[in-house]
This record gives sequence, C-alpha cells and structure tokens, in this order.
Amino acid sequence: MQREFDLILQGATGFTGQLAAAELAKQAPADLRWAIAGRDASKLKTLSEKWQVPFVVASGLDETAVDQLASRTRVVISCAGPFARFGTPLVEACVKHQTHYADLTGELPWIHQLIQKHHKQSTADGTTLIPASGFDSVPTDLTVFHCVRHLQGEQPGDGENSTHSTVDVGALTGQYTLRGGFNGGTLASGLELYEKYPEVMQGFNWEVFEVPVLNRWAAPFLMAPVNEWVVRRSAALLDEAGVGYGKNFRYDEFMTAKTRGRAAMLARILKLVQYLMSKSWGRETLRLFGPKPGKGPSKKSRERGFAKLHIIHSGNREVGKLSMTGDPSNLITTRCLVQVGLALAAGEAQRGGVVTTAAAFGDTLISRLRLLGDQFVIK
Ligand SMILES: NC(=O)c1ccc[n+]([C@@H]2O[C@H](COP(=O)([O-])OP(=O)(O)OC[C@H]3O[C@@H](n4cnc5c(N)ncnc54)[C@H](OP(=O)(O)O)[C@@H]3O)[C@@H](O)[C@H]2O)c1
Repeated sequence: MQREFDLILQGATGFTGQLAAAELAKQAPADLRWAIAGRDASKLKTLSEKWQVPFVVASGLDETAVDQLASRTRVVISCAGPFARFGTPLVEACVKHQTHYADLTGELPWIHQLIQKHHKQSTADGTTLIPASGFDSVPTDLTVFHCVRHLQGEQPGDGENSTHSTVDVGALTGQYTLRGGFNGGTLASGLELYEKYPEVMQGFNWEVFEVPVLNRWAAPFLMAPVNEWVVRRSAALLDEAGVGYGKNFRYDEFMTAKTRGRAAMLARILKLVQYLMSKSWGRETLRLFGPKPGKGPSKKSRERGFAKLHIIHSGNREVGKLSMTGDPSNLITTRCLVQVGLALAAGEAQRGGVVTTAAAFGDTLISRLRLLGDQFVIK
C-alpha cells in the first residue's frame, strides 16, 4: 500500500503522547516514515522540531481532518483520550481507508461499540484495529497467551503456529505486583467512563485471599475488568481460528500485597474510589483534587516503576511470569503501544478485525518486547 507515511502518532502532545514520540524516535527503523498529529499546531510544531518529523493538525472531533489523516498513512497509533469522546471519527476513517490502528483505551463500552460497528468490515478488509494496546492490556494478554501455549505443550516463543492446539488449560489467575503513578488523562477517561456507564464498576472480584505459592496476599485490582475481558476476547478469537485456550479456560486477575492488612487496605481504597465515582459530587471532588489532563508522574518516579505478573495455574502452581521495568501507566504503556504500531507497520498482524495483541501477533510481539528487556519466563 503506497501512502505518504508508514505511521502517524495521534495525540502526540499529551503526557503519554510525548513519551510515545520519544520511544518512536528511539525504536523506529531508520526508513520508517512517521509523523506526529494532534489538535494544537503550535505544540506540534515544537515537538516536530524536537523529533525532526513532520506533523499533521487534526482534531479528533473534525471528521474531515481525521479522514485525511487516515488516508495519508498505513498505520495510526493514538494517545488522544478519553477515546469515547475524541476517538470515534478516527477509527471510522481508519476502517474506511483500511489503515491499521492501535490505541490506549481501557473504555470497555467504547470497545464494544467498535466491535459491533467495525469488526465484520475490518476483518473482511484485513484492517487490524487493536484498542487497549497499553499497560492495559498488552502485558496480561501476551503473558496469558505465552503460558497457555506452554501448558498446551508447545515450546514457547518459537514463532511457529503449526502445533497450536485447543487443549484445555482450565483456570489461570494473574497476580500483579506494581509500582507506578497515575496520569491526569487516565483520571479524565475514568471519570467520563463511570459517568456514562456506571455499571462498569461492577466487574470487580472483591476477595482478599492468601497466595501461598507467592507468599503474598491478593487484593482486587483496578485494571482487572479490562484485562480479564481482553483475555476472554483473545481466547474467543483464537478459538474461532481453531487455536483457542479450551472451553473450560478462565482467567481472573488481582494485585498482591505483602500482608493481609495491606491487601485489605487496597480493597478498601478501591471501594472508596468506586463510591466516589458513583456520585456526581464524588467525581467533581476527584476532578478538582486529582491530577489534571496533561499531567503525570515525574521522570524519576517513571523510571523507578515496574510491573510483575505471576500466572498461577489451578490456584497452586506458578507457571509463568512477566517482569517489566518502568512506570506501568507511562513507560510500559508507550513501549507496548509503539511496538504494536511498529509490528502493524512491518506487516506482522496475522488477521484483521477489532482484535487483541494475542490474536493479532502472539509470539512475534513477545519477541519484540523481549528484545527491549521485558522478561517473559516459563517456570
Ligand atoms: N492503557 C493504558 O495503560 C493507559 C495508560 C496511560 C494512559 N492511558 C489513556 O491514554 C489517554 C491519554 O492519557 P494521557 O495521560 O496522555 O492524557 P493527556 O496528557 O490528557 O493527553 C490527552 C491527549 O489527547 C489530546 N486531545 C484532547 N482533545 C483532543 C481532540 N479534540 N482531538 C485530538 N486530540 C485531542 C490532547 O491534546 P492537547 O495536548 O492539545 O490537549 C492530548 O494530546 C487517556 O485516555 C488515558 O486513559 C491508557
């Protein structure tokens, strides 16, 4: 496909957008023709001089501008959220022009709408659309994929698809240990989501329980509803292709703490957030006192962050682990999004449709992240 650009980064002026541009400048192959985009020409001009790449002005709400943007490139990656507010015309333009697309949304009702409207057409056209290509939910999706393939008896990470089977792996549990900050953009997206769709707060497992195999305690995890849904979608898409996870497969996710008391405190904090989100005065309070759009953790705190995900089989055996360095919301998120974008630009996606990273790439994306130091380990 001949286009002016291989890849355009939309929302490049925001907090994650600027980090994604820095990551692209580091990781893009020398011959990749990439550009940055956003709604503010003067901010874009400064950044385009910094990274020595062209820029495109396109507000997410201007249908003509995003239509032109999508027609000029083979791939779009987007950090312009809340996505339910700014993202729909861009996805529509990508489907129309058969431009591959990935973003950072965790807004499940919006992803459901994209599937309903665009999955069939984009599957037929071979256009790959991958929402949730940040910390939610690439690390979870790929680690579960990797462990399932191992449990099904395949040598993990060998890049071959020929021996995948649908051997049933039963129940897996993901246990996260994390250190990281929180962005104003994430809070803005969360507030908007819960205002429109209060029911999304219902998906938590509130259990606090001991995980003897890790010598830690499990607590409910804010991102679990999104990550669990993405894993279920991967399982369903792979099952359609005859290479699923088995019909009794299930996946639940938690975050861990050293003691029962700390795990119970994490659960209480999440309950409080849920309560505040459910009230309009609570949302106003969070908007007033929480981080503002465009703001996020300091460089030092981004560099001190990390994420570890342990995968437990049948509640008692650790089968695999992922270790990633950097603040999950920012460094891990932009590393994942940029690699998804580069993989799309390199023609590595195995299918079209509104899909997940496990269904589109599987082992090839794991290999890309491994080259950057992310450790996918089978126990
Ligand atoms: N998946 C994950 O793990 C993960 C992690 C972090 C963030 N996120 C999500 O990523 C999104 C961005 O987060 P952030 O921290 O980078 O937020 P942010 O700093 O507030 O950035 C938002 C971006 O959207 C742009 N924007 C606003 N209105 C627009 C419009 N009409 N057209 C085009 N662009 C527009 C902003 O442009 P201006 O600069 O001109 O204002 C800015 O570039 C949020 O939805 C957040 O929830 C996901």
